[in-house]
Amino acid sequence: MAGIVLDHISKTFADGTVAVSDVSLAIADGEFFILLGPSGCGKSTLLNMIVGLETVSLGSIKVDGQIVNNVDPKDRNMAMVFQSYALYPHMNVRQNMEFPLKLAGMEKREIARKVHRAASILELEDLLERMPRALSGGQRQRVAMGRAIVREPHAFLLDEPLSNLDAKLRFQMRAEMKGLQKKLGTTMVYVTHDQTEAMTLGDRLVLLRQGKIQQIGTPRELYSAPRNLFVAGFIGSPAMNFLPAEVKDNHLRLPMVQIPLEQLSPGEIKPGHYIAGIRPEHMYCTDDGQRPPHAFQVKVEIIEWLGADAYVHFETDKGDWSSPISPFPDELGRKMTREGGVAMTARLDPSRKITSGESLTLAINQEKIHLFDISSGLRKKNVIKHTGWA
Ligand SMILES: Nc1ncnc2c1ncn2[C@@H]1O[C@H](COP(=O)(O)OP(=O)(O)OP(=O)(O)O)[C@@H](O)[C@H]1O
Ligand SMILES: [Mg+2]
Repeated sequence: MAGIVLDHISKTFADGTVAVSDVSLAIADGEFFILLGPSGCGKSTLLNMIVGLETVSLGSIKVDGQIVNNVDPKDRNMAMVFQSYALYPHMNVRQNMEFPLKLAGMEKREIARKVHRAASILELEDLLERMPRALSGGQRQRVAMGRAIVREPHAFLLDEPLSNLDAKLRFQMRAEMKGLQKKLGTTMVYVTHDQTEAMTLGDRLVLLRQGKIQQIGTPRELYSAPRNLFVAGFIGSPAMNFLPAEVKDNHLRLPMVQIPLEQLSPGEIKPGHYIAGIRPEHMYCTDDGQRPPHAFQVKVEIIEWLGADAYVHFETDKGDWSSPISPFPDELGRKMTREGGVAMTARLDPSRKITSGESLTLAINQEKIHLFDISSGLRKKNVIKHTGWA
């Protein structure tokens, strides 16, 4: 078992590409730790440096207190599982799992014991004589894990191990992966670009963007207190809605509604322009009879009904204010304004029958509104009563 500490790690490739930039983080012994971020943000490079497949340009990597920068990968005792977990096609499941131990020159009885243990943890006992071509995708994935488990490594490093599986199997394997890690108690560093996977699997996660750390924390911390716009937009599905906002005359002015500041957080928000962030689940539908203050009317453009959820898409009014913000940071892939209004999504109670074109009265769970600085993108404050500036 191993704790892993990255101390100001950077990686610049020969062609000058900076893949990882000044990353410092500590992964605890036995922790399920996720490296999350969009394609090209440096996740695989970071993982490869930890396992020793890639050299470190700057900084140091410590495993259990020892600097391992110059330790050969095979001496780091870490097991890597890749996205394309090619099994040896001419070997059956048992032989596939035995192979790394045979290579290491381990004694036969010991090999049999370890393979038996891994097969029982992974529920592969009945499949030991099968050839890989006669296995399902999920079973193959388990054999690949088995090949890593038999080595009893200090840590497992996994690079998008589930991304070749179909959605249903991925869902099932995700649960198995979590159970497996708890059963083994071994440190696991897991790369994914899928925020749902990261949120459900990780004890903690780091979100990277262009090789730099955006935030480290538990899934709950990143969801409820995102450090900046990027984290706010990346975590959560459907994504957080972003709107131009202005604090003026003791009101938070959003395109569709004005909320007196004292209902948010008395006297702590400075006047000026902000970007407001509202999660789809923090809006709700109100019946016209019991209209709460600051409710607003929207016209339903599209309704996505998913059984357990209903996503309602609408566009806000333009509002009677002017804002200096036009396009939203493009990596989030959305435009702040569309014909003057803002395209928004609300996640509503699916039991209420909603049709497109219908006019709905919505309200915001005001305590959940986030405000972000326009120029730095940093979250100014969670607009929750009695909390200071974040
Ligand atoms: N050998 C290399 N030489 C030059 N640049 C590289 C090399 N390997 C990776 N890169 C670049 O480094 C950056 C990070 O790549 P990396 O593979 O770590 O991203 P990633 O987060 O794993 O992405 P993905 O989700 O697509 O796998 C990218 O811009 C990539 O093009
Ligand atoms: Mg990668």
